[in-house]
Amino acid sequence: MKITKICCIGAGYVGGPTMAVIAQKCPHIQVTVVDLNEERIAAWNDENVDNIPIYEPGLSEVVAVARGRNLFFSTDVEKAIDEAQIIFISVNTPTKTYGKGKGMAADLKYIELCARQIARISKDNKIVVEKSTLPVRTAEAIKSILDNTGNGVQFQILSNPEFLAEGTAVQDLLNPDRILIGGDPSDDGQKAIQALVDVYSNWVAADKIVTTNVWSSELSKLTANAFLAQRISSINAMSELCEKTGADVNEVARAIGMDSRIGSKFLKASVGFGGSCFQKDILNLVYIAKSYGLNEVADYWEQVIILNDHQKRRFSNNIVQTLYNTVSDKKITFLGWAFKKDTNDTRESAAIYVADDLINENAKIAVYDPKVSRKKVLADLDYLDTRAASKNETSILSFESPYEACAGAHAIAILTEWNEFVQYDWQKIYDSMQKPAFVFDGRNILDGPTLEAIGFVYQSIGS
Ligand code: NAD
Ligand code: UGA
Repeated sequence: MKITKICCIGAGYVGGPTMAVIAQKCPHIQVTVVDLNEERIAAWNDENVDNIPIYEPGLSEVVAVARGRNLFFSTDVEKAIDEAQIIFISVNTPTKTYGKGKGMAADLKYIELCARQIARISKDNKIVVEKSTLPVRTAEAIKSILDNTGNGVQFQILSNPEFLAEGTAVQDLLNPDRILIGGDPSDDGQKAIQALVDVYSNWVAADKIVTTNVWSSELSKLTANAFLAQRISSINAMSELCEKTGADVNEVARAIGMDSRIGSKFLKASVGFGGSCFQKDILNLVYIAKSYGLNEVADYWEQVIILNDHQKRRFSNNIVQTLYNTVSDKKITFLGWAFKKDTNDTRESAAIYVADDLINENAKIAVYDPKVSRKKVLADLDYLDTRAASKNETSILSFESPYEACAGAHAIAILTEWNEFVQYDWQKIYDSMQKPAFVFDGRNILDGPTLEAIGFVYQSIGS
């Protein structure tokens, strides 16, 4: 089948960048990204391409090339579904906050709504692609909805999980380690797989495109995230032991990372992993394991989350203890709020939980992040629902510049590894702070000896 029209439901952190790159690399394919969120679509269509709703290095350049040519953003979901031969489902699949599986299972209501809408609108055969991260065997449910509520047209369901990481999304999409496509073993299934392979082949080498069955593909995505998160929890567990024994976690990571069987990536000790996916996907994996009665498997993976929660709490407890067991009415400056550098995404960021603990201790917090507004910081704290919004409002301070954010502070905590923090004039910052001036480096990005020479009391993770 020659593909000329693609639609993607969901214009978020995955749908937006993924479709922008497909459109850039496949000028002969019309790509329409649709979303129910009018504000988000309006931002994607903003005349000034720097105002698109998602910050990713290089993304606005890709959007500038393709938008209006063969890349379109729209709220007209029905029209886009009707016209497309391939429909990507790229909607959010958060952890359930209600009912059975609350706090663990993936909430599939948005996926089901998409399936029902596709079934209702489609008048010709379509390939439906699961781009969202989904529990294993979700395709079965989607197929059942499509086949039983549709207009008698044929649907092929493919699983094509996305492995991009935020902050490097464009590079990850342009040079993926692999593209994974799962489909039905039948002839029609294989034809659908080939149609999607042909799309990616416009810029991805054949040996990097892996095809498999749907269930293996779905489970591979959860497995990849579980393994990645496990590495962080493993090194973070060692960071605490390093602090007790005089070992240095950076040295340990360097030494073990040189073992080619272990590898050097994803061994950076930190205040804990954040982001919208690791926690949600592991909880989901734990839930799936439990639902099959595999309690030991569930406990094994749950420990990755338990350790991560411990790492965040340990960081805030250490701040309070080091500041003489009280932070009440003390100003503490956070450098960074996003869950990692080069993104404006704050979902599940460790900073939120550290701030929450410190506000419980009546601290005043000045948060500076180059891509996150005070409004967003307050919204994240309010979402936790631990206290009255008015208390958050008075606890989160306003200021004009990062230097002003640090002035008069008792301590600075580094929560995100933004490059610019390393470049700051730390002597100037020191001079403006309360003494002794503390730095708690939750990302191990600053040079401890240099800060100590200035006069700071410097603490990093794991040494
Ligand atoms: P997101 O919340 O940024 O975007 C999802 C979008 O879907 C939202 O804009 C929402 O309005 C829209 N939406 C929901 N239901 C809709 C409907 N019925 N019709 C039209 N639009 C609808 O989420 P995201 O970060 O892009 O993640 C999407 C999926 O991709 C998740 O399953 C996630 O696990 C997975 N994933 C995310 C990343 C990542 O780095 N963020 C990476 C790989 C995979
Ligand atoms: C992660 C995976 O890396 C992607 O492959 C996957 O597609 C994505 O989840 C997803 O399914 O959503 P992402 O969460 O965007 O990507 O970012 P990561 O680079 O994985 O970082 C996650 C968190 O771990 C961040 O808070 C980061 O600071 C932290 N981290 C990462 C560490 O603390 N140490 C490390 O060594 C690496």
